[in-house]
Amino acid sequence: MRNILLHIHPAKVNAASISFTRTFGLGGMAALLIVIQIITGILLRFYYTPSPAGAYDSIMFLKNHVLFGQFIRNIHYWSGVFMLLIAFLHFLRVFFTGAYREIRKVNWLFGLFLLVLVVLLNFTGYLLPWDQLAYWAITVSTNIVSYLPLVGESLRTAVIGGKELNADTLQSFFTFHTAVLPLLLIVLVLYHFWRVRKAGGILMPETGDKPEMVPVMPDLVFKEFIVALVLLAVLFLSGALFNAPLLEKANPAYSMNPTKAPWYFDGVQELLMHFHPFFAAFIIPVSVIVFFAWIPYLKYDKPPNGHWFISDKGKRSAKSTAIFAAVVTVSGILFNEYIANFEILLQGIPAVISNGIVPLVILLGFMGGYYRFYLKSFRLSKEELVQAVFVFIGVAFIVLTLVGIFFRGKDMELSLF
Ligand code: HEM
Repeated sequence: MRNILLHIHPAKVNAASISFTRTFGLGGMAALLIVIQIITGILLRFYYTPSPAGAYDSIMFLKNHVLFGQFIRNIHYWSGVFMLLIAFLHFLRVFFTGAYREIRKVNWLFGLFLLVLVVLLNFTGYLLPWDQLAYWAITVSTNIVSYLPLVGESLRTAVIGGKELNADTLQSFFTFHTAVLPLLLIVLVLYHFWRVRKAGGILMPETGDKPEMVPVMPDLVFKEFIVALVLLAVLFLSGALFNAPLLEKANPAYSMNPTKAPWYFDGVQELLMHFHPFFAAFIIPVSVIVFFAWIPYLKYDKPPNGHWFISDKGKRSAKSTAIFAAVVTVSGILFNEYIANFEILLQGIPAVISNGIVPLVILLGFMGGYYRFYLKSFRLSKEELVQAVFVFIGVAFIVLTLVGIFFRGKDMELSLF
């Protein structure tokens, strides 16, 4: 055991780097959740049948006739949800401590890839129960793919193996969920760990003094053990109290109302309510992903200092930008919903202009105005400016997702109650 741990960790680490508030143990928690997912996934596999005729009944059998069947299913479900949330928080932690640059930039890129894999694992798993929720959620999210220019329709057909979800869709989602994606995830996580070690551990602020070093065993391992126990306790409690969702068996002839994508895509679905699909499903998401991948490669004035939010100025500008982004996003949604719909307002103009370019230019105008009349007075460094853009995107995404999950009711109408 000691040997395994020392393969993952060096023998000694910087004492300050193992303080809980440095990493919040998020990377380690994500790793533990992968292990739990694999173990519970293997157990579920003993009963699950990957066919439209058998999938739902096999889940019902597991639920009603297998000792701890429902509990194991709940743990698998909740650890998937937690993994997504924790990997996202880890991504934020790495960004806001500036650990995405220089020697760590390749690991940042691999981290982004890991995040995509975690989303795909959740997504492919979502379909497997083959109930109404799964069937219609995957139908609307794969419909989003068809909005991609030129290749959209054929890509959707390739992903689901036909015009509508069918036995081949379930079979291929099952193969990706249980073999291809987990294997990729394991290999990439191991590589990710290796790169953390290669970078000399996590990024720490320079103090000028020689750092105090402590042995990994027991100092770090003890803390990891406590974090793991707390995570397991929360997970088990969630599994005991809240069942993984399961509605009636999928019925392709009767759609759900509202038909929502899985919760992590509800932000994109919400964006589709306000922008032309070419912008909501392609231009905006692709620009955001390119921006995330590009930020380590921008030219900065100073090396990363490892401080949370870079500096006091960085922290203040991030806070103001978060408030600005929340206000702009909520106002934009309400304006578009209740006051003016550009597509109706500018009838006669192609929708890609009236409902794509026009709202995007207005949004960029607001961002430009905010920078010119407020943010500029902070005299931000390039790194602090990139951080402000990141905060804007992050907050807008979170607000869109929350609105999509909690405030869209029947017929996808905005409902506040
Ligand atoms: C399955 C998902 C992931 C796992 C299991 C994982 C695991 C870890 C672990 C254990 C560490 C060591 C320190 C810590 O706990 O923070 C770490 C560091 C790091 N991770 Fe991840 N990670 C994942 C996803 C990501 C994502 C989504 C990103 C960003 C796009 C990322 C980028 C990084 C970087 C750059 C470091 C070095 C941080 C530093 O030097 O301070 N990782 N990761």
